[in-house]
Amino acid sequence: MHAALPDLSATIPVAPSLSMFDPVFIGINEFGNPVYLDLVYHNLLDAGEPGGGKSVLIQNLVGHAFLCHDFTPVLLDPKWVELGMWMEAAEATGGIFVGPDIDKGLRVLRRLQKVMDRRYAWLVAHGRRKFLASDAIKVIGVFIDELAYYTTTTGTPEQQKEFIALVRDLVARGRACAMPVIAATQRPSVDIIPTSLRDLFGYRAAFRCTTPNSSDIILGHGWASAGFNAQAISPQSPGVFYLIAEGGIPYLVKAAYLTDEQIHQLVDYVTWSRRNGDQTPVPLAA
Ligand SMILES: Nc1ncnc2c1ncn2[C@@H]1O[C@H](COP(=O)(O)OP(=O)(O)OP(=O)(O)O)[C@@H](O)[C@H]1O
Ligand SMILES: [Mg+2]
Repeated sequence: MHAALPDLSATIPVAPSLSMFDPVFIGINEFGNPVYLDLVYHNLLDAGEPGGGKSVLIQNLVGHAFLCHDFTPVLLDPKWVELGMWMEAAEATGGIFVGPDIDKGLRVLRRLQKVMDRRYAWLVAHGRRKFLASDAIKVIGVFIDELAYYTTTTGTPEQQKEFIALVRDLVARGRACAMPVIAATQRPSVDIIPTSLRDLFGYRAAFRCTTPNSSDIILGHGWASAGFNAQAISPQSPGVFYLIAEGGIPYLVKAAYLTDEQIHQLVDYVTWSRRNGDQTPVPLAA
């Protein structure tokens, strides 16, 4: 008789061991191969018509980020229901959640601008051009689900202008100092995403659009007429989008999907393990 094997799952701590510097799994391509993003050095613009799957994609990225030991969340969601699900986990991780409150949004972005300046000052002082995983620095991921709310819907024109200017600064300078921006918007029109801002996003995800012009606003001028047209994505295929990465050719991706239940499990796990950091975390429920 063999002695019974010990139940290792009960004794080996399961801890968040991912890093923001790891590739982030977002879904599969047309050939069924996995698609990963290198989030830390890129910004992502996520756009397309309502119901296309933008928030589902963001949830995948947020889910990865919260399982990382080097993530500080800044979550802006005027609709509450998407990034708001992570509110408790954000608090436990030393991050912040902003709802439909442009004053708070502006305060947070101004603070991030200061942090960015200090990080650059540190890089300059050390003769460096960017942060690496070995620097053990927290990656401040700025997730905005529905950019247009802050840039066109709420607040005064001055506040909206300041919001756009601050986001632009973060998108332009945040990359190298480990502060990537991930922003979603339903209406990819030029008033919401000026071309000069769009071009700063190294990754752009075009979910189903109502016109080839909208698709081009996201992917870049001329792609729709070259056959890469997000209007052609079937309304029956939510979660499918064209991804363009840093000057490459757009390709189709189907985003992975986290159910509400899975997100709640992740939030519980993250919150518990952050609040009880020196104890053995409870493994995720099956
Ligand atoms: N990758 C996916 N796999 C399976 N179903 C998906 C996927 N993406 C989206 N869906 C379905 O489409 C619905 C709408 O997706 P989602 O909420 O992400 O859209 P959205 O683009 O954020 O819409 P809105 O602009 O209104 O916020 C989801 O509730 C889900 O049922
Ligand atoms: Mg959404």
